[in-house]
Amino acid sequence: MSTYDVAVIGSGPGGYVAAIRCAQLGMKTAIIEKYSTLGGTCLNVGCIPSKALLDSSHHYHDAIKHFEEHGIEIPGEVKLNLEKMMERKSSVVSQTCDGVKFLMDKNKIDVYEGLGSFKDKTHINIEKDGETQTIEAKKTIIATGSKPANLPFIELDKERIITSTQALKLKEVPKHMIVIGGGVIGLELGQVYRRLGAEVTVVEFLDRIIPTMDSALSKELQKVLKKQGVKFHLSTKVKSVERNGDEIVIKADDKKDKEIELKGDYCLVSVGRRPYTDGLKADAAGVELDDKGRVKVNDHLQTNVDNIYAIGDVVRGAMLAHKAEEEGTMVAEIIAGQKPHIDYNLIPGVVYTWPEVASVGKTEEQLKEEGVKYKEGKFPMRALGRSRASGDIDGLVKILADEKTDEVLGVHMIGARTADLIAEAVTAMEFRASAEDISRMSHAHPTYAEAVKEAALAATENRPLHI
Ligand code: FAD
Ligand code: NAI
Repeated sequence: MSTYDVAVIGSGPGGYVAAIRCAQLGMKTAIIEKYSTLGGTCLNVGCIPSKALLDSSHHYHDAIKHFEEHGIEIPGEVKLNLEKMMERKSSVVSQTCDGVKFLMDKNKIDVYEGLGSFKDKTHINIEKDGETQTIEAKKTIIATGSKPANLPFIELDKERIITSTQALKLKEVPKHMIVIGGGVIGLELGQVYRRLGAEVTVVEFLDRIIPTMDSALSKELQKVLKKQGVKFHLSTKVKSVERNGDEIVIKADDKKDKEIELKGDYCLVSVGRRPYTDGLKADAAGVELDDKGRVKVNDHLQTNVDNIYAIGDVVRGAMLAHKAEEEGTMVAEIIAGQKPHIDYNLIPGVVYTWPEVASVGKTEEQLKEEGVKYKEGKFPMRALGRSRASGDIDGLVKILADEKTDEVLGVHMIGARTADLIAEAVTAMEFRASAEDISRMSHAHPTYAEAVKEAALAATENRPLHI
């Protein structure tokens, strides 16, 4: 029987990063993955394929809607080849997954394909095609991730009533896609199909889309998506989803408790994700789960069993790839006896629609709730030369700073390339910068980043230069 210092169960961004860091720190490491490709949800059916489709559909949409205003004329009709778009996405996914395999080999990590389950706290069974082998591990890291959640009354047929996994590989553009849940997945994939020509209707239970982000971002994103033709039903409670042939009929109660009926040919259910521990036999090792099915961990990502740790989507906190990665690094360093730390307040959140939405730190709603006195600085993207040059004028940057100390407490942005711009805010907040610190740094002209400087000027002494 092979023996390891560390075994990692699950090869998503949490698991594979943990394995690499363990190997870097000199530990003999194994990783166990039930699927034949490495990379987990993120690489196979999450971040990477969704971003590939977002980019491809963005190009298509630009070609049919915006090229002309830039003086680019295409003789004849611009045509969509969905099959080719999907093929490109699949090849991006397979190249990325192969990259993880390369990294495992480079770091001399043993890869086991099969379902990992605990035999006891130091032994893991790995089952594939009816055959089981057992390995011994001094420490184990559970990184088994998450799966799409569903509503109890919805039967997912995976053809027309689907989750993100199927929405990433549709063979046709829906005529009318009804999206249940106006969160990250619903809006990203809703925008993909809207750009490709589908009618898209979003039904959201709460009174705003992307409800965990600052409400200024919800408002602006909804405004922009509406302009692009996406329809919204907010404060609306779905009661039933039925399929009759190729037609999907959805009944819901709107905000006035009036029943509405929506008809479409596809229904994307994107109401969140649930932690995934099916088949893991956590109880055989004595590992406890919480009431939401997440593996219970302490501040050191250690479960109630001292040699077993857990990270990523399967534990509390944001279900984000970069959060899982940070935890992967942290847990490896803890096992090696180091004292790493993650500031969860500074894990950024991004929605990759266009305009992109990005956020870090406290929202205005949270500061109000916590009774923190704050100042606000806002700057609209349309006031930037860079935005006018590209034609991407939607959006804003909003900086919230402590009323007395001027320390930046939250940065919320929507606009072109904000997914990348948010890194400046994370850096500033890691170093506990004040709004004035940001406002005194030179930002290249013309860039979208100038909006960050201008919002900081607005937050400092309400003295933006360009509005
Ligand atoms: P996962 O990536 O879920 O990996 C867990 C792995 O464990 C899986 O491969 C699974 O097969 C394996 N496994 C489970 N049980 C066992 C077992 N018993 N034995 C062996 N293997 C097992 N996040 C972002 O930060 N940015 C994005 O742009 C983004 N886009 C997304 C788009 C979509 C459509 C979706 C669905 C998610 C997206 N996410 C995004 C979220 C991101 O994918 C997750 O937060 C991330 O994958 C979590 O990583 P993880 O390592 O915890 O788990
Ligand atoms: P989500 O939590 O982002 O959004 C779910 C939405 O559904 C919420 O707005 C919620 O209020 C709504 N909802 C819940 N129950 C409902 C009901 N009965 N009827 C109508 N609406 C209902 O979850 P989503 O979009 O499914 O994504 C899952 C996870 O994947 C998220 O936690 C996210 O972090 C991650 N993800 C991250 C991405 C990124 O970082 N860009 C992209 C895609 C997913």
